[in-house]
Amino acid sequence: MSSEKTNQSWGGRFSEPVDAFVARFTASVDFDKRLYRHDILGSQAHARMLTQAGVLSEAERDAIVGGLDEIRGEIETGTFEWRVDLEDVHMNIEARLTERLGVVGKKLHTGRSRNDQVATDIRLWLRDEIDAILVELNRLQEGLLQLAETEADTIMPGFTHLQTAQPVTFGHHLLAWFEMLSRDHERLVDCRKRVNRMPLGSAALAGTTYPIQRQVTCELLGFEAIGGNSLDGVSDRDFAIEFCAAASLAMMHLSRCSEELVLWTSAQFQFIDLPDRFCTGSSIMPQKKNPDVPELVRGKTGRVFGALTGLLTLMKGQPLAYNKDNQEDKEPLFDAADTLRDSLRAFADMVPAIKPRREIMREAARRGFSTATDLADYLVRKGLPFRDCHEIVGHAVKYGVDSGKDLAEMSLDELRRFSDQIEQDVFAVLTLEGSVNARDHIGGTAPAQVRAAVQRGRALLAQR
Ligand code: ARG
Repeated sequence: MSSEKTNQSWGGRFSEPVDAFVARFTASVDFDKRLYRHDILGSQAHARMLTQAGVLSEAERDAIVGGLDEIRGEIETGTFEWRVDLEDVHMNIEARLTERLGVVGKKLHTGRSRNDQVATDIRLWLRDEIDAILVELNRLQEGLLQLAETEADTIMPGFTHLQTAQPVTFGHHLLAWFEMLSRDHERLVDCRKRVNRMPLGSAALAGTTYPIQRQVTCELLGFEAIGGNSLDGVSDRDFAIEFCAAASLAMMHLSRCSEELVLWTSAQFQFIDLPDRFCTGSSIMPQKKNPDVPELVRGKTGRVFGALTGLLTLMKGQPLAYNKDNQEDKEPLFDAADTLRDSLRAFADMVPAIKPRREIMREAARRGFSTATDLADYLVRKGLPFRDCHEIVGHAVKYGVDSGKDLAEMSLDELRRFSDQIEQDVFAVLTLEGSVNARDHIGGTAPAQVRAAVQRGRALLAQR
């Protein structure tokens, strides 16, 4: 059978064309065409290196590099014809190069395999994605610092078990989010180092017989290091898994922030307002204004966890080296990166627009005996053991529940029923301001500490 009926890239040893459904089933071009820019960059670096190695002439290199630039132009203007019968982005571009250049185009793939090519492309692509994600993350963190500074004195209830626990400042709460995101930033920066290692030169699995100069492609492509083993280079996707793990943690954090925003905008809390542009209405209930953006971010978190689980499962049973299974790495990875990037962008836009309802927050902090611990600490300072103080204040709270009075609303006589150590100076301790100002140490909720933490945060961002 003539080879025209078989695939032009590998049809030589085949005697019949691939089944039409199998061709579609095994093709990846519908999703991996997204890698075209990085595929072209990798190919241009490879061609340049082959010239330095004496494998391609300078004229051949220039024709290839120029031809690939033209193809990028065709793709970006939408005139490029993607063909499913050419399987993937790599063979589509190479076939077009050969169509344009003739025999010179066929030389590009010398000393290379799609196996090291695709591993290189994904790493180059992911490196750029991480950089774009870090920009959004930074923007969100800047917004948090700004809002935390404005709200350093704003008092709200702090919760444990979602029950009122102790008063905190709203700025302090926002800085907790900032800390979570700082660790996400560290993780992504760290992950990027391992993404940024070069598999190109591994060829199919064993390396190549040509005198390739891997340090040349490494430098041209801006990789930090050359992968030390060709079998590993074409095979492992741990860098993609690691990215999805870091992305999962970041999404988990955004999801927790989302949950709080959803709670705070509810009629039961009313702690904040979100501007209309981040909300939508209901088609049946005219009064509704739903916090769709945080709800969606919370919901999208599952996709990223799914990508992580999917990639771990994809990898776990694979023998060395490349297996076609690895073609399945792309869609989850793309989706995880897109989801994280979009979610961060939405948050970075939304956070500066949060409008706290300070009076309502304050009123909520006043209820629920949030200064009970302060009263216990006051009695400790009068010389009582903490456990006894806990018990005394417990009785006072019980009395408060029964009589409908908060601790600060009780008279000195009422309070002294529980301990004769209580004196007039107790009332300073029972105020919300007294409570937050007393937690005046690194990491505490006192407004002065919030302001100091904002300054530390700004210094951290300035170092990036
Ligand atoms: N489309 C393939 C992938 O994404 C490219 C590598 C194919 N290599 C091969 N030997 N079939 O993994």
